[in-house]
Amino acid sequence: MWLRNEGRLFGVVFVLFNVLLAIFNVLNYRVASRATVPCVVIVAPTPPPPVDTPAPTAHRRNAALTSTRPAAPTASLTWTDAATTGDQNSTTTPHTQIVRARNSTREETPLPLNYTLPWETEQRDKYTVVKRYIPADRPAPAYDESVTLCTQGTFEFLQHVPELCDRWEGPLSVSVYAPGTDLPVAVRKILFLRKCGPPCVRLNVSWHLVYESSLAPSRLEAPLDTADMAEYEPLNCTAGFKPLQLVSEIRSSKKLPYPINVARNVARQLAGTRYVLASDIELYPSLHIVPRFLDLVSRLAEKEMGKVIPRRVFTLPIFEIKKEFPAPKTKEELVKRVKEGHAIFFHKWVCDACQNFPRRDQWLKTLPEKGKEDILGIFQTTKRQMPRTAWEPIYIGTNEEPLYDERLTWEGKRDKMSQMFELCLLDYDFCILDNAFLVHSPGIKTLSSVDQRRRAPFMYKNNAVHNKLLAQMKKKYGPRKGC
Ligand SMILES: *[C@@H]1O[C@H](CO)[C@@H](O)[C@H](O)[C@H]1NC(C)=O
Ligand SMILES: *[C@@H]1O[C@H](CO)[C@@H](O)[C@H](O)[C@H]1NC(C)=O
Ligand SMILES: *[C@@H]1O[C@H](CO)[C@@H](O)[C@H](O)[C@H]1NC(C)=O
Ligand SMILES: *[C@@H]1O[C@H](CO)[C@@H](O)[C@H](O)[C@H]1NC(C)=O
Ligand SMILES: *[C@@H]1O[C@H](CO)[C@@H](O)[C@H](O)[C@H]1NC(C)=O
Repeated sequence: MWLRNEGRLFGVVFVLFNVLLAIFNVLNYRVASRATVPCVVIVAPTPPPPVDTPAPTAHRRNAALTSTRPAAPTASLTWTDAATTGDQNSTTTPHTQIVRARNSTREETPLPLNYTLPWETEQRDKYTVVKRYIPADRPAPAYDESVTLCTQGTFEFLQHVPELCDRWEGPLSVSVYAPGTDLPVAVRKILFLRKCGPPCVRLNVSWHLVYESSLAPSRLEAPLDTADMAEYEPLNCTAGFKPLQLVSEIRSSKKLPYPINVARNVARQLAGTRYVLASDIELYPSLHIVPRFLDLVSRLAEKEMGKVIPRRVFTLPIFEIKKEFPAPKTKEELVKRVKEGHAIFFHKWVCDACQNFPRRDQWLKTLPEKGKEDILGIFQTTKRQMPRTAWEPIYIGTNEEPLYDERLTWEGKRDKMSQMFELCLLDYDFCILDNAFLVHSPGIKTLSSVDQRRRAPFMYKNNAVHNKLLAQMKKKYGPRKGC
């Protein structure tokens, strides 16, 4: 009896507390948003930035600003020197200048500037996306003239981009997840790669940003060209990447999972070509894929003239190699390493089924004929059906393929699975390319129990989302045997 009463009382108090909390939240939100919604976003000079992280309302205001589609013609920019703030823990780097948006009227004449800023931004659930934050210097190739390598990462992984770029010979679209204090570090790394990396990075890589809107920067910083940056502390190319190899504090302290599928989708959707390879940042492509692939699709188009073409994607086998060896660039080199026992199929010790495609040992036995090394063909066309329902192929496709579900995080694993399942329900053909592959940055992966423990809560979440998704998809497309 006593227990029951106590329980009821507790229940009432709990409900009351939550109602009050909800009311408080609604009021708080209303007040904050009404007072700060700008009528036109204008970017203009401002006093030095605040020393500390901005108060929650400032976050909200800035989130609102960055998520508002700016009226480009009325927007103007000027710069404030970040170095003058004298703030050692400032979130700005000396290599960027501050752009602060403020309220203004349409009549204000924009300053004559050569930048087409501010950037186009987009809200994706709780994330803000800054599209083409730093576009490639080289104009994008025509829609059908190249293939875009689309990838994503946190700042810790950006050092792989030069290698990707040098191997790819085409445009890259890279989204970088950089919440809060990660942003200035990420920007500095991007600038370092553009300045000190191979010219390819500057010419062919377009960078986008992704962060929680609640962790938006109190101002968005616009990096300048090298020439304009001369008066700031120069990035020291000879010092190399080491000084920039920091560890994200905000992601561990706030336990932020990496929204890999938001980043994946953003990179893919912002590609300027018909064909895209949505891949992971540590997977290095073999050489000459772009011209070979374009040649393959034009040959196919000729052959299939007038025929109904099934839904299909072109998959690349994936490998990993011991850290003592360079990542192979040609199939010949790769096969040699596999024979020596130094290279293996990707995730062989972690999840062998994830990369186990039909007749994969045969794939390793077929080398291109002499004189035909530069020709790409289809090794085999297959479906992703039983017993290969764990297969997570990476493939060249288009933006017509379904997107990745953005609620799935990297920590939670199986982040590509629901998309794979969808391709199966849609009865996609998987054309395995015979003379192209991906190889993971050297070092062979094994399971770590610490890592598993850290990721457990996120895996629990992903699984829940995953199960819901599968049910929804079965409803949407109807069940298909084997998926
Ligand atoms: C922004 O400008 C408009 C028009 O001048 C004005 O009505 C509004 O109150 C201003 N908002 C803020 C936050 O200053
Ligand atoms: C600023 O950073 C230094 C080390 O980088 C740290 O010791 C100090 O506590 C920080 N100060 C504030 C106010 O965060
Ligand atoms: C814009 O570019 C033109 C030519 O490229 C140059 O003459 C002009 O000075 C630039 N304006 C600014 C504000 O940089
Ligand atoms: C950059 O991409 C173009 C195609 O857009 C390609 O022809 C060129 O080789 C690439 N540059 C480098 C340095 O790889
Ligand atoms: C750049 O880094 C190198 C190597 O760490 C160092 O010797 C050199 O003094 C640095 N240059 C500047 C201008 O800081």
